[in-house]
Order: sequence, then C-alpha cells, then structure tokens
Amino acid sequence: MKGLILSGGSGRRLRPLTHTSAKQLVPIANKPILHYVVDDLVSAGVVDIAIVVGDTGDEVRASVGDGSRWGATITYVEQEAPLGLAHAVLIAGDFLGDDPFVMYLGDNMFEDSLDRVVDGFVGSGEAARLLLARVDDPGAFGVADLDDSGAIVGLVEKPVDPPSDLALVGVYLFDAAIHEAVRRIQPSTRGELEITDAIQWLLDDGATIDHRVLDGWWIDTGKKDPLLACNRLVLGRLAGDGVVVDDDAEVVDSTLVGPVVVAAGARIVDSTVGPAVAVGADCRIEGSTVDDSVLMAGSAVIGHRRVTASVLGHEAEVRGAGTVGAVEEIDLSVLLGDHSVVDVSGG
Ligand code: TTP
Repeated sequence: MKGLILSGGSGRRLRPLTHTSAKQLVPIANKPILHYVVDDLVSAGVVDIAIVVGDTGDEVRASVGDGSRWGATITYVEQEAPLGLAHAVLIAGDFLGDDPFVMYLGDNMFEDSLDRVVDGFVGSGEAARLLLARVDDPGAFGVADLDDSGAIVGLVEKPVDPPSDLALVGVYLFDAAIHEAVRRIQPSTRGELEITDAIQWLLDDGATIDHRVLDGWWIDTGKKDPLLACNRLVLGRLAGDGVVVDDDAEVVDSTLVGPVVVAAGARIVDSTVGPAVAVGADCRIEGSTVDDSVLMAGSAVIGHRRVTASVLGHEAEVRGAGTVGAVEEIDLSVLLGDHSVVDVSGG
C-alpha cells in the first residue's frame, strides 16, 4: 500500500502560530506531529509515501526530507490552495496510480497503531475502509449513518441531527475506485472537494465500504487545547519518573515535575517546570513556574509564576513580574506566535 499524508491546509484555528509555520510541525513532546504520522505509516509497512503540501511546503520538506531516515521514500505533491481533502487525492493521482493507499491527515495523532486498521484491506474487495471514533459532539464532524447490521449506508458532514455518534477521523483507506469519485463530485458550499462527498459517491455507486471503530484516544491537534491534551498523553508514556533531560541542557536550582522533556541547549534556572511540559531546544526558563505547556525552540519564560496551558512559538517570550512584584502575579495562559513577546512586568 502507498501512503498519502495531507500537510497543506491553512491552519486557521492555530493562528497566530500558523502564520509563520505549519501546524503539522508543531512539536508534541519535542517531536513534530508529522514525524509521528510517518512513524505510524512505516510501522504498518507503508513506506512509499507522498506528502501534500501548501504554502508551508519548504518547511515541511526541510523537516521530513526524503524519508531515508525512516527507510521510506517520500515525494511531495504541491497543492496550490487548500481546496479539500478530495482535491488532495485528485492531485496525487499520478503518484497513487492504481495502488490501494492510506490517506492520513498530517495533524492527527492516534494512540492505537495503524496495523490493525490496515490489516487485510488489500484483497478484501472494499473500496474504502474508514476509521470512526465515538465523539460527544458529532455535529462538528463528518458522521457515519449505519444500518442495523452495522454497515455504513451514508455519510453526513456536520449534521444538525446526527444519525450516530460515530465521526470520521483522520485515517482513510482507499482502493483505486476513489479516483473516479473525486473526479465526479462538485465543490461544497465552502468551496472544497469534500472526501465525505467522494465516499458517498462510492456508496451510491454500490461500492463496499467497511470501517473500524477506534479503541484508544485520537486527537486532531489543530487547536490549542487538543494540542496540549496530546502533549500530556504522549509525555505520559515516558518511562520511570517521566523526566527526560538532554545531556546538553542545563538545570540549575530548579524542580522538574514529570512528565517533562527538556531538549538540548535549554537552560532552566530557579524554576519549577512540569508536569506536562515540553521544553524545546535552546529555551530559557528563569525564575518561573511552567506547567501543561509546549515551548517551541528558542522560546523563553522569564520571571513569571505561573505559565500554564500555553503554547509558545519559536523565539517567543513571556516576561513576568518576577520576584520584583511590580504587578500582581496572574496565571498566564497564552498561544504565542513565533517571535512574539508578552510582557506583564509592568515596566
Ligand atoms: P483541516 O484541519 O480540516 O483544515 P485546515 O488545515 O485548513 O485547518 P483550519 O480548519 O484550522 O483552517 O485539514 C486537515 C488536514 O489536512 C491538515 O493537516 C491540513 C490538510 N489539508 C490539506 O493538505 N489540503 C486541504 O485542501 C485541506 C482542506 C486540508
């Protein structure tokens, strides 16, 4: 099977971070989300992979490369604008040929490995196999309508009156029949070629569509709170006390509360860091308390008690009142784009 990773899109829900960088490259426990996606595909035996990229293509290429570090071959397909998931399949047609493939959204992460989903698809006669998850708010998703035998009979995008609580999540398996479907459908009212419409076209054409229901957690990391939830879950898998500090990081007069990871070049002084913090390369934390946060490379928290539930972009900085007590200290929760500064020192 081939792999198709979608790493274009506009990432509106993670602005301002995504003004300057790709949301699929936001680090979870100090590793870009997209790298977990490649890991997952490669562990399921999928090594011939194309990545669909948009405006942030150069950054994605620089981060993932040609795939050799995974023993995979990665090619890039340019999408001129985020015209929909089915549009991504359309423009990847030459790469995909007639091979069955896994389409994986580049900002989704799963607890379960892909093996169980992929297992037995080739040769099954299924035109598509969908991954479904039970959700509390099906109205926000593409939702599957199942008959009494559990077979999918229809799909509805963001239904007002959901037929089930089973939402389509970011992994889809297709055989070559999808290519005709993506050519036949028309753009939706939001101007995108919707993958749900293409799958509905297959259903209407009499194709066999099967599904798997997820057991473990699944997170669409495209917003701050789910991103932090994912960071907590992945950090929570660390062994032992969950404190992992790179040999080239410096921790002085500070307490690290696991799970926490600290990357090379970071310097933590007179601070309490954790639980659930990923400190990126060359970050500085001084005289501060930080928990439940992602600090991207080169960012800093200086003199603030307490920064919580925050995502700091590259080189972003929070300057607090510190020990001077210039202003009353507040718990600060921020999403900062690259190079942004928040200064609450009152000075
Ligand atoms: P979405 O999260 O649905 O869309 P988006 O990236 O535009 O984000 P937002 O809603 O915050 O503006 O996209 C799911 C994944 O698919 C994501 O990794 C981006 C990717 N994608 C493409 O590669 N091409 C596309 O045309 C679209 C719509 C998404």
